[in-house]
Amino acid sequence: MSALFTPFSLRSLTLPNRIGIPPMCQYSATDGRAGDWHLQHYASRAVGGAGLVIVEASAVLPEGRISPGDLGLWDEAQVAPLARIAAAIADQGAVPAIQLAHAGRKASVGRGWEAQRTLTAAEGGWTAVAPSALAFTGYDTPQELDAAAIAGVVAAFVAAAERARRAGFQAVEIHAAHGYLLHQFLSPLSNRRDDDYGGSFANRVRLTREVVAAVRAVWPSELPLLIRLSATDWLDGGWDAEQTVALCRLLRDDGVDLVDVSTGGLDPAAKIPAAPGFQVPFAARIRRETGLPVAAVGLITEAAQAEALVAGGEADLVLVGREILRNPYWPLQAAQALGVAAAWPAQYLRALPPGT
Ligand code: FNR
Repeated sequence: MSALFTPFSLRSLTLPNRIGIPPMCQYSATDGRAGDWHLQHYASRAVGGAGLVIVEASAVLPEGRISPGDLGLWDEAQVAPLARIAAAIADQGAVPAIQLAHAGRKASVGRGWEAQRTLTAAEGGWTAVAPSALAFTGYDTPQELDAAAIAGVVAAFVAAAERARRAGFQAVEIHAAHGYLLHQFLSPLSNRRDDDYGGSFANRVRLTREVVAAVRAVWPSELPLLIRLSATDWLDGGWDAEQTVALCRLLRDDGVDLVDVSTGGLDPAAKIPAAPGFQVPFAARIRRETGLPVAAVGLITEAAQAEALVAGGEADLVLVGREILRNPYWPLQAAQALGVAAAWPAQYLRALPPGT
């Protein structure tokens, strides 16, 4: 009996197993629209057997893209190409989810494999916005958002969630991690505001809570709402595990169904002790202290490792990122390794050794 291959329910949904694919930017969109790359990439990973596929960071506003190649959900023309992807994922029995994002001061840089510096207007760049006019190391200084623009960000998350639903996604994940806009508001290192959105803990978490509440109000009550948090900045005086737990208690009441627990991203000066499963203790603590379901992520690459952390009650879901970029069939192979009947597609059965 495998814990990793036990179904998991969130609101009305049942995931067939506890393996998810975390959002991973492909930097291959045109004007925020998905193309053939995205369709084959997500469809082939869904064929690999994950129970949940979270489509990459999709910007709620054009200036909220990390790079000119990011997906978007700020425009109706972006819905139809994403609908093909949501359908292809669901067709394989996985739950199609999508991450809604705003990059804030980390916007307007090259695609993931290009130079990570602010693009000029001639290169297709734009002026980034942020809680405060404080630059991410090596990038240009962003423009501080005023109250009206903050309200516009909340409205943009709502409109993007409505488009995600029309595209057929069954879950949305709010991106409040990795040093992007919502995380910039959370961390005292990037938020120096003296209005209702800065200073105290209650003020720094205000925008994230407003986004969650506003999205929850339009997202169908039978479908789950996820959030990704960086549980620590790994920096003195920054956002940390204590504050993350306190925020999660509030988010539980605001209607969040699962916390996807990552870390870091606010400042490249952070010393991150990356090692197998290094972020799992943060997920386990949030689960233990708030009762909220959690997903663990980060250097989880072995079937036995994933099985142990679900069986041990450290996480409800395991997200496997780069390993599934390398090997889309990781979930099916993990099932075989754990002695569970793997649901290989009928089209591939003749490729398997006898007795598989
Ligand atoms: C990422 N990651 C990421 N995170 C996120 O919240 N939204 C995103 O769109 C992306 N994009 C992205 C692209 C690529 C190419 C990589 C490799 C990573 C982070 C990712 O979701 C995950 O948290 C990390 O990769 C750690 O998990 P693994 O890869 O160690 O399993």
